[in-house]
Amino acid sequence: MRLPIGNGDYVIRSYESGDVAALMKYANNEAIARQLLDHFPHPYTEEAAHEWLRAAQEQDPEVSFAIATPDELIGGIGLLLRDDVFRRTGEVGYWLGEPFWRRGIATLALQVFTRWAFRKLDFARIQAHVYEINPGSCRVLEKAGFTLEGRLRNGATKNGQLMDLYLYALLADELEGDEEWNG
Ligand SMILES: CC(C)(COP(=O)(O)OP(=O)(O)OC[C@H]1O[C@@H](n2cnc3c(N)ncnc32)[C@H](O)[C@@H]1OP(=O)(O)O)[C@@H](O)C(=O)NCCC(=O)NCCS
Repeated sequence: MRLPIGNGDYVIRSYESGDVAALMKYANNEAIARQLLDHFPHPYTEEAAHEWLRAAQEQDPEVSFAIATPDELIGGIGLLLRDDVFRRTGEVGYWLGEPFWRRGIATLALQVFTRWAFRKLDFARIQAHVYEINPGSCRVLEKAGFTLEGRLRNGATKNGQLMDLYLYALLADELEGDEEWNG
């Protein structure tokens, strides 16, 4: 899979075996890990990078992708799939290497990726949980058209601390009037 972001300076693409070095360089950052699930380790070892790539390459359907320049991986974006009555809900997560923050990349990546996911995986809803300490990610979601639906009090235990979570969602129906979506 390969999706251009914005004017094509960046792409969302399948992970490649050669991504290990860049994964270790950018993912090994506590400022990133503190905003994600514990599944995203800190320190981010070479073993963790290999394990991540192996798991992503075995996915069916493929739902975890790299955000990259033409030269290297600079981040990741992906979905958790749910089953049973939640089978048409996807949970999105993303991160970007710190040198690339504040350039609008995450917002563009999320916009492109959610449209791809709605089409490809027949979701009715894509949602995201954000720790209360993450205003940057809230802003990214709002700019990408997500709606704040609520605050899940004490919804997560992260780094030994109970934390509230914000729940954001975007519905497939809400893209009906969107030019890029219809075009
Ligand atoms: C959250 C994250 C993905 C944002 O990526 P980014 O590419 O810097 O975001 P953008 O440049 O698209 O910024 C979008 C908006 O958020 C704002 N923003 C970004 N980081 C911010 C921060 N730390 N605090 C406040 N606002 C922030 C930007 O100013 C911009 O708003 P504006 O256009 O009104 O000025 C990135 O900081 C990151 O990877 N953080 C660690 C992992 C993480 O938090 N993942 C999400 C878990 S839910």
